Amino acid sequence: MTRSYLLAPSILSADFSCLTDSLRRIEERNGDLVHIDVMDGHFVPNLTLGPPIIKALRSKTSIPFDVHLMTANPAETFMQYIDSGADYLTFHIEAEIHAHRLALAIREAGVKPGISIVPSTPVSALSELLPYVDLVLVMSVNPGFGGQVLIPSCLEKVRELKKIKQEKHFSYIVSVDGGINSLTLPLVLDAGADVIVSGSAFFTGDID
Ligand code: DX5
Ligand code: ZN
Repeated sequence: MTRSYLLAPSILSADFSCLTDSLRRIEERNGDLVHIDVMDGHFVPNLTLGPPIIKALRSKTSIPFDVHLMTANPAETFMQYIDSGADYLTFHIEAEIHAHRLALAIREAGVKPGISIVPSTPVSALSELLPYVDLVLVMSVNPGFGGQVLIPSCLEKVRELKKIKQEKHFSYIVSVDGGINSLTLPLVLDAGADVIVSGSAFFTGDID
């Protein structure tokens, strides 16, 4: 099947008691990236998984890992995610004062740096960082939980990021995360998303 976008199923909505089965499912349905939501109980009020589990999963599939850190102080822990096998490593601008330093350190370690913004953060907060990242993750729900409803105003940020990319010849891809299902997918694609993150809709079979 050919898609006009990259599909990044989020294992947040998978059965955590048999994650390897979920990886098989992602392979069978031609997922392009495995989106791994890391939550620390501080930056967001939920806890998921960390480096040991990512490392254990790494040898079970060849699909690249798109690790989304929803953690406080990502600069303190980022190397553990790189050592665990992240291909893209995305952190939140709201969680890191020295975001430029961290993006460069991730790239220096041979991994693609990504930056994410929550719904209340404007694209302008990223203006100094855009030349240094490979992925911009626009959260279209408030992070912390799967199965929420997409906030349509966030899609304007996707348009803005695509416009800036074109004007300034930047190389990042734009990923959208949260509340994407078969009804909202056309809106997200229309806004110009390159990567679609899908948790609940992918695992219930609503999105292919
Ligand atoms: C939310 C996570 C998302 C989540 C999306 O904080 O970052 O990746 O898995 O789940 P759905 O697609 O169910 O909104
Ligand atoms: Zn995510």
